[in-house]
Amino acid sequence: MQSIRWKLVLTYFIIIVLTLATVGIYIINSIQQHILSQKEMGTLTQANVLSGYISRYQELSDDSIRLIMEQQQLTNNSRMLMLNTEACVTFDSNNGVMQDKYMPTDVILDAIGGKNSVRQITGQDGGLIICAAVPILKDKAVAGVVYYQVAADDVTDFMNNIYATLIMIIVIISILIGIVSFIMSGIITEPIRSLTRKLSDAAENNGDYIIEKTTGGEVGQLIDSFNKMTMQIKEQEGKRQEFVSNASHELKTPLSSIKLISDSLLNAPDAPREMVDEFLTDMNVQVDRLTRIIDKLLTLTKMDNAANVSGMEFSVQDITELCSNIAKALRPLAEQKHIELCYEAPAPIYSKIERDRIWEAIYNILDNSIKYTKEDGKVTLDISKDENNVIIEISDTGIGIAPDEKYKIFDRFYRVDKARARETGGTGLGLSIALTAVELHGGNIQVESEEGVGSTFRIIIPITFK
Ligand SMILES: Nc1ncnc2c1ncn2[C@@H]1O[C@H](COP(=O)(O)OP(=O)(O)OP(=O)(O)O)[C@@H](O)[C@H]1O
Ligand SMILES: [Mg+2]
Repeated sequence: MQSIRWKLVLTYFIIIVLTLATVGIYIINSIQQHILSQKEMGTLTQANVLSGYISRYQELSDDSIRLIMEQQQLTNNSRMLMLNTEACVTFDSNNGVMQDKYMPTDVILDAIGGKNSVRQITGQDGGLIICAAVPILKDKAVAGVVYYQVAADDVTDFMNNIYATLIMIIVIISILIGIVSFIMSGIITEPIRSLTRKLSDAAENNGDYIIEKTTGGEVGQLIDSFNKMTMQIKEQEGKRQEFVSNASHELKTPLSSIKLISDSLLNAPDAPREMVDEFLTDMNVQVDRLTRIIDKLLTLTKMDNAANVSGMEFSVQDITELCSNIAKALRPLAEQKHIELCYEAPAPIYSKIERDRIWEAIYNILDNSIKYTKEDGKVTLDISKDENNVIIEISDTGIGIAPDEKYKIFDRFYRVDKARARETGGTGLGLSIALTAVELHGGNIQVESEEGVGSTFRIIIPITFK
């Protein structure tokens, strides 16, 4: 009963059977009420006719009354009584069974009070009886009562027949509906069942989760979404594997160097002091490199978590002041290479940012510009804003980036010239940290570059505080 198919069948079934039963019962009740009120009218008319006869004659013997009854074609299932104004029976057409007995029923008391009255009552055998009572008037005064009753068995029999027919119709229609709704729900749920089959096939078919689209409509859309999601997961998984293998490789390189140096030192216990110093300095460089890689990996992981778990801590910051501090921090590096670092702080530009993240982004890009520009070059840091964004532009007269490398440089561990980057201590993580940080602020980074001429990086961050 868990399946959609059975739920559909049951829903159709219940709705239609309930509707049929309600409408059927309503119609049958209306018919019954109509027939019974017709019968009540008939009974009252008969009572009136009898009372009319009796009023016309002063004294009537029982035989004459019987004669009148015969003339009126009263049937076996009817009975007539005459009562005096004390509700005492003076005549009973049923062999005088009730003769001289008191019968103060509602209809009779109504008639003694001068009113024609008719009711439905239940007889001793449980059958429905319609009884009417009419006053016998003499000189405009009530002289007695004619009570007349008819068994309504014919009505109840007729109604019972209709009920039986109704139940039979409902049963037949229910069976038909059951069959039709079973077939229909099968047609409706088939695409879902086929999708489920395909999904479990795909799950068993390790890795290949792409489902062939054989149907349109909602299920077709579901297949499209599923395939899209699978592709994304695959892509993410690919990136994750690449990242892990890159990270292991990058961590392993300095570790291998350290191992090599320490082995050499161990195997040369009598090595001169200068040589030991040189080895230890090399080892120190490798340890620094390891520390740098691990620090940057931690920064990236923290940002990944910030996006998903811990959220970010924003505060209103003056971006121009932030850039002044970054320029100040990197000026010594530029001076070492005789690079002119130009920055003219404009009027303060405020935005709601996470200071450390944006610091990291601008710092890494400015650091690159200085790092990848030859001696006596020029690096310019410029800030502006438009209606919606702060734009931080960093241009250099450096080595430039080839067009096909332009987007790869944002990948984790990617460096254009690996050998040289290792010399300069680059880890290949700087730009991916910068991009992740800017994206966490809803912004992006644009690159324009020409090999041998220079590059321009444009950090665009939406202003969320005005
Ligand atoms: N201004 C630039 N001019 C020329 N090439 C650049 C510039 N900025 C980045 N690149 C290229 O992009 C690569 C990736 O840069 P990224 O900052 O991610 O790593 P890195 O500078 O090598 O290492 P890290 O920044 O982690 O010390 C660099 O190795 C370099 O080849
Ligand atoms: Mg860098």
